[in-house]
Amino acid sequence: MRKKKKITMKERTSPLHFGIVGATGLVGREVLKLLEERNFPIKSLSLFASQRSRGEKLSFRGRFHEVEPLSYSSFDRPLDCLIFSAGADVSREFAPMAMRCGIVVIDNSSTFRMSKEVDLVVPEVNGELLSKGKPEQGRVIANPNCSTIQLVMILKPLMKYGLKRVIVSTYQAVSGAGLEAKEELKTYSLLWLSDERTNRKSSVFAHPIAFSCLPHIDRFEENLYTFEEMKVIHETRKILSSPHLAITCTAVRVPVFDSHSESVNIEFEDDFDVEILKKDLESFKGVCVLDNPSNNVYPLNNNASGRDEVFVGRIRRDESVKSGLNVWVVSDNIRKGAALNAIQIAEKVFL
Ligand SMILES: NC(=O)c1ccc[n+]([C@@H]2O[C@H](COP(=O)([O-])OP(=O)(O)OC[C@H]3O[C@@H](n4cnc5c(N)ncnc54)[C@H](OP(=O)(O)O)[C@@H]3O)[C@@H](O)[C@H]2O)c1
Repeated sequence: MRKKKKITMKERTSPLHFGIVGATGLVGREVLKLLEERNFPIKSLSLFASQRSRGEKLSFRGRFHEVEPLSYSSFDRPLDCLIFSAGADVSREFAPMAMRCGIVVIDNSSTFRMSKEVDLVVPEVNGELLSKGKPEQGRVIANPNCSTIQLVMILKPLMKYGLKRVIVSTYQAVSGAGLEAKEELKTYSLLWLSDERTNRKSSVFAHPIAFSCLPHIDRFEENLYTFEEMKVIHETRKILSSPHLAITCTAVRVPVFDSHSESVNIEFEDDFDVEILKKDLESFKGVCVLDNPSNNVYPLNNNASGRDEVFVGRIRRDESVKSGLNVWVVSDNIRKGAALNAIQIAEKVFL
């Protein structure tokens, strides 16, 4: 493997040599779409996936780009930035090597998120961490879990009231489990409606997801929480620099195609005024308050899909404690929960 020549800021021309690992997946395709939408300056584009996608072509800015199988020689070309969206095993094997070649890696998997050496970033919340390194040096930056991202986006502007305890229950779309999961929900729903329930097994989830809520995302841990629930807990503490935050989570997969919803209960140290608190949320970049219950206005997963914002509504006091709040938070898990957040990181590092 050739060691990449280090380039200095002076040598850098503004458009980047950019790449996507997992380009054919749900997140990878959304990254491609967003790069185009946001007019991200690109000099060359490299698209990688598994052997299965060899030869597939994906359209970008009116031109088709061939997808290449990822291999150890994939980094023997000029590459400034690579977004990894191909699962934990691929990131574990290839991301450190890419970093050693001087590439800035933005990783969507859980592999490096809790590593002390790796920053876990939501640009609106702790984007200041991105100015630490130099873009011409290789680095791994971790993109948080989709459920964590939308949670910290509403917790950050409320930290001024002192977070005493957070209870989050997630209602997560099947798109969070990739393309195959979306296909399975479609097929099994049609079978169910045509009365052909049979006893088919799911190839993605522990049980068929059609018309069913599964309190099970990712593997079970020794403490009987799922790995998904523990990711939300640990990542939230890391991003908010609150290592002792009392936070608990129940993560549920629900039979909707897109966008995750969360019921969030927060207990504060200090008292608050609900109207001022709504303004705190409203004025935080990337958050949109949708809260007019008398007109049936509140965030809905179907309306959030394809949108960049984190939507929050059903804002009301928890009357069972001295200073408590209940909110309903919805966001597109593929966009802000993955692809958009990764591109915002790249924009902050390079542009
Ligand atoms: N979906 C979400 O809401 C979400 C949110 C945050 C983070 N993430 C993370 O993002 C990653 C991708 O998720 P996804 O939803 O896009 O999954 P997906 O739709 O199943 O796509 C997986 C992608 O990884 C590629 N891939 C698989 N094995 C590979 C290998 N050995 N070498 C190179 N590429 C390989 C696949 O290529 P082929 O098409 O060739 O198989 C495909 O492009 C995962 O780590 C996931 O945890 C997802």
